[in-house]
Formats: sequence, C-alpha cells, structure tokens
Amino acid sequence: MTDYLNKYCIHTATCGELRIDDVAREVTLTGWAWHTRDHGGLIFIDLRDRAGYTQIVVDPDCVSEEDFAKAEHLGREYVLKVVGAVRARGEESINPNMVTGEIEVLASSVEVLNTSVTPPFSIENGIETDETTRMKWRYLDLRRPEMYANLLLRHQVAQAMRAALNKRGFLEVETPILANSTPEGARDYIVPSRPNPGKFYALPQSPQQFKQMLMVGGIERYYQIARCFRDEDLRADRQPEFTQVDIEMSFVHGDDVIDMMEDVMAETLAAVGVEHEFPLIRMQYSEAMDRFGCDRPDIRFGMELVNITDIVKNTGFKVFSSVAQSGGVVKAINCKGAGTWSRGEVEKLADIAAANGAKGMAWIAFKPDGKVQSPIVKFFTDEEFAALKTAMDAEEGDLLLFAAADADTANAVLSALRLHMAEALDIPREGHALLWVVNFPMFRYDEEEKKYAAEHHPFTHVLDEDLGKIETAPLECGSYSYDLVMDGFEVGGGTIRIHNAEEQRRVLRVCGLTDEQIDEKFGHLIHALELGAPPHGGIALGLDRLVMLLAGKPSIRDVIAFPKTSSASDPMTGAPSNVTARQLKEVSLRTL
Ligand code: AMO
Ligand code: AMP
Repeated sequence: MTDYLNKYCIHTATCGELRIDDVAREVTLTGWAWHTRDHGGLIFIDLRDRAGYTQIVVDPDCVSEEDFAKAEHLGREYVLKVVGAVRARGEESINPNMVTGEIEVLASSVEVLNTSVTPPFSIENGIETDETTRMKWRYLDLRRPEMYANLLLRHQVAQAMRAALNKRGFLEVETPILANSTPEGARDYIVPSRPNPGKFYALPQSPQQFKQMLMVGGIERYYQIARCFRDEDLRADRQPEFTQVDIEMSFVHGDDVIDMMEDVMAETLAAVGVEHEFPLIRMQYSEAMDRFGCDRPDIRFGMELVNITDIVKNTGFKVFSSVAQSGGVVKAINCKGAGTWSRGEVEKLADIAAANGAKGMAWIAFKPDGKVQSPIVKFFTDEEFAALKTAMDAEEGDLLLFAAADADTANAVLSALRLHMAEALDIPREGHALLWVVNFPMFRYDEEEKKYAAEHHPFTHVLDEDLGKIETAPLECGSYSYDLVMDGFEVGGGTIRIHNAEEQRRVLRVCGLTDEQIDEKFGHLIHALELGAPPHGGIALGLDRLVMLLAGKPSIRDVIAFPKTSSASDPMTGAPSNVTARQLKEVSLRTL
C-alpha cells in the first residue's frame, strides 16, 4: 500500500510498514536512531522515520567489525541507512504496542548518513519542554510523531476540502499579498513600497475584497487556501498569520452557501474519519445569546442560561429588582454537582464574573443535606424562592450563579462561568458539535471609538426588511450572516454581500466614513458594484482552528509548522529582526 513511498529514494521500506508477512524480505531502511540499547553484545536500535519505527538488531556475527563499532557509538538522532532481513521476533519479545512489534530487522550493514549533536530535548510525544524551546528547534519538534500526525491531519483536511470544492465547480484563484487595507477588525501589517516613497501596502487580513472582485469578474465560484495577516493580541486560537479556506459564490442566498459548506464539511470530516450528523442546527444569533450567552456556544453540554428577570422583578433583594426594573436582565446558571463547594470556593468564582464586567456574583448552594447556603435567599419571599427553584430546576447538590446587569454583560459573565464550571466539574465534552449561528446584528456600537462598527464586516448585506433603518436605527438592523461554530470555537464565518453601490455607501457612512474617505478607501469596490456586480456571498473557514479541534489540541500553534510566539516572533529564525540603515533609506524610512 505504501509502495510509492519507497520509490525515488534510498530505502525500500519505511520504518512503519513491515509486518509478519514480510519475514525473510531483504530491506533497506533509513531514518533516525531513536532509542539504542546495548544488550551484551547485541545492539538494538529503534529506527524512526515519519511512518513509524522498527527495531533493528545489530549482531556482531552478521555485520562487519567496522559496522558493529559504528552501531556501538551511535548518538541520539544519528541518521542511518540499514540493510538487513526481516525476521519474526521471539514470542517473548513481541511488542503489541508497536505496529511493527512482531518483527525486527537483522542488520547486515549499518551506514551513518549523518551524525547529530545532542538534541536540546527528547524526540518523544507528550514532552513537557517549554514551547519557546520547541519553537526554537522546531525541526526537531516536528520529528516528534504527534507533530507529524498533526501536519498529516492538516494536509488531509486541506486536500479533502480542495477535492470537495473542485468537484462542485470552484476555481482556485490566488489573490495578492501586497494589497490595500481591508477592514476585518484588526490592525494591519504594513509594508513600505520602495518605488513609492511614503506609501505602504497592507498585508491582507483576508482576501475579502479580492474575492468580491472575482465575483464581479464573473468567476462565479472561487476558493483559495489563503494566508491572512492580522496584527492583534494573540491567544491560543489566534496567530498573526493564519490560514483560511476562503470561499465565494455568485447568484446565491445565504442558505445556498450554508448548504454548500455543509456538504463540503461532511465530505471533509468523513475523509478524516470523524462522524457528525448533518444537516446542522441553524441557531439564530439571539437564541445563542439567550441560551448560552455567547455567539459561539459549546452545545456539547447543558448548563444553559435561564432568564429570571420576571421572577425577581419585585424582590426585596434590591440589586436584582433595580436591575430588572431599569431595563437590565437577571440570569442564572445551574451548576449541578457544585452544591458541595465551600463558600470560599464559590466566592472565588466572583473573580471570573468581575473580569467579565460584573459588579458582583450572587449564588445559592443547595447542600446535599437539604440546607440552603446563600448571601441572598433571605431577601426572597417563599413564592419567589419556589418560582426560582422551578425555573432553575434546582435540587440538592446544585449551585446557582447569578448575574444582574445589562444583557451583554450578564451574558458575558455567565458564558464565562459556564465554561469555567464545565471544566471545573469535569463535565464530559466528548466528540464534536458543529452548528450554525445565523443572522447576526449588522452593527455594534464601539464604546472605545465612540462609533458604530460592522459586527462582521461592512460588506455584509443588511436584512431586506431592515434596509430602511440603516441610518435611523443601526443597532436594530439584522444581517445575512452565518458563523460555523465547533466545540465552542468560531471555525468559520461568512455573509451575503452588499451588491448595490448605494447600500454599500450607506453602511460605510454609518461606520463613520465620510464620502471622501469612502471614495479614497473603497472607490474600487463602489465602482465594481456599479458595474453589474452579481448578488454574491461566501464564507471563510479558519483552517488552523478546525484542524486544532480535530486533532484535539489546545492551541493552533500545534497544527502550524512554524508558528509565532505570543509576542509574534519566531524563535527559530529570529524574526522580526533589524534591517540595515541602507534598507530603511531605500524605503524612505527612519526608526525612532
Ligand atoms: P473572519 O474574520 O470571521 O471572516 O475570519 C474567518 C475565520 O478565520 C479564523 N480566524 C483566525 N484564525 C487564527 N488566527 C486568527 N487571528 C484568526 N482570525 C480569524 C476564524 C474565523 O472564523 N472575510 C471574512 C470571511 C467572509 O466574510 O467570507 C473573514 O475573514 O476561524
Ligand atoms: P451586596 O448586597 O452587594 O452585599 O451583594 C449581595 C450578593 O449579591 C453578593 O453575593 C454579591 O456578589 C451579589 N451581587 C451584587 N451585585 C450583583 C450583580 N450585579 N449581579 C449578581 N450578583 C450581584
């Protein structure tokens, strides 16, 4: 099955393929000396390549004296070529944990293709070496079988997506890296232009405008495995350069893009052996916020947010009643099993609530012995308490956590607590859960910048029924938008686009741009929309995040060959680094 792996190379078998049926075969293997053991005259080498590892036996009776001496002095990670015969292992030395564990190769010659200085860390799965060290010697890190498996999975996902898109008539088109700024909500990476002193390119935060231009250009179905660049604060699921499977289609409605994406996802998941039911749930944004407090809910467990505003509207606990009467909400989650927590443990959760904007975190613990512990129950009437218990489905052993605030804050607080408690209570979250969150609001109000901003991006088509409200009630406008959510992560997002020049101008104006700025920054887009732009829409999947989740890894750095650290640097190459005064001068720049 792996014959082609043994063409165009020195070896005749990989280190992962030999089985009992291969006994007596003469083979040439190449790879790295992984573990070496000297067993009183016999030397055993685990020879490793990307396909696996095979035990080599070096017997002084079967190799030259010179080769035996080489085998005696092998260092870790020496590169070897071994010729020998496959033989069955004795009954007692069969290793059932090793795919090649029934056989070994009795060497007839051992050649050292290269030596190695002592590696800075062991080439083993699950090492505890700090990540910066692993990244400094990334090529060694990549020799670890689990890292190879991650890259292999990434390759399989990318190929499956390509195949699924190719057969549906999508054209793979590359778009420029040296481009103009396109707003996706992050800072741009900028590149000075030598022939145009004082002028800069921006590396694309996404190919958004180009893919729309391709639709105006009649390409009709486009995709690209596209590198995107965003200068933003990094997290486990964010890198300054990352990869999107970027897709755009003409003459479609939102449901067409969603249907297409589901078919592509179904084929992709099947290709990597992951089962998932389709079609996926399509949840309104408002429902996601109500039930989970966030727009990328992990629906693999319950602990949903319950709105108890009506129950506590007139309660004696003033924090709740005043919030309820002044337009805010009171919501709660039921953490089953945490009723046994001590007061101290519960009060510590208030830090999480505070970090998400809460002024406090009320709680009620239903002790297993039937007692109720809480700083707030004394304020409730019996009726209120009974109604609360029913609404929250509360019973012995439960802990209720409350947030009283404006809806956004209450949702953010309880969403964070919900995820924290799922982790703390070890609630099983096995397998994968994909869903769509659809119909996001078109705009949000940016408190820092004191202006409206597009929730997705400003090229998103406003719901037809809300077109009249763009200027008068921007926050009430919905949009044709959809996010693909997996296990609590946003793995993709897209929208139906504006294809009408006037709507585009209106949306950009609401986002605070003057007509002059619109012409300067988006004139090309407006022109394109005026020149017979077809209705179009699309989506971009975060390939890194998707593969991270499929690989069960905690960070996208694990599925990127050469990622950056949290300070956006590369410890291996030293990037970013200084440039010479001459280089700066050539691009008309001076450092401060
Ligand atoms: P958006 O900004 O939602 O949409 O990005 C699409 C997907 O890309 C992934 N992603 C990231 N992955 C790693 N590191 C990052 N810094 C990062 N930022 C985003 C996420 C996200 O869902 N042009 C639009 C798409 C469209 O409308 O078609 C866009 O870029 O998984
Ligand atoms: P206080 O009356 O401030 O002592 O608060 C009584 C309880 O209500 C404490 O457990 C507080 O943490 C909690 N609390 C105060 N403000 C809020 C709020 N906005 N939302 C939820 N709980 C709150």
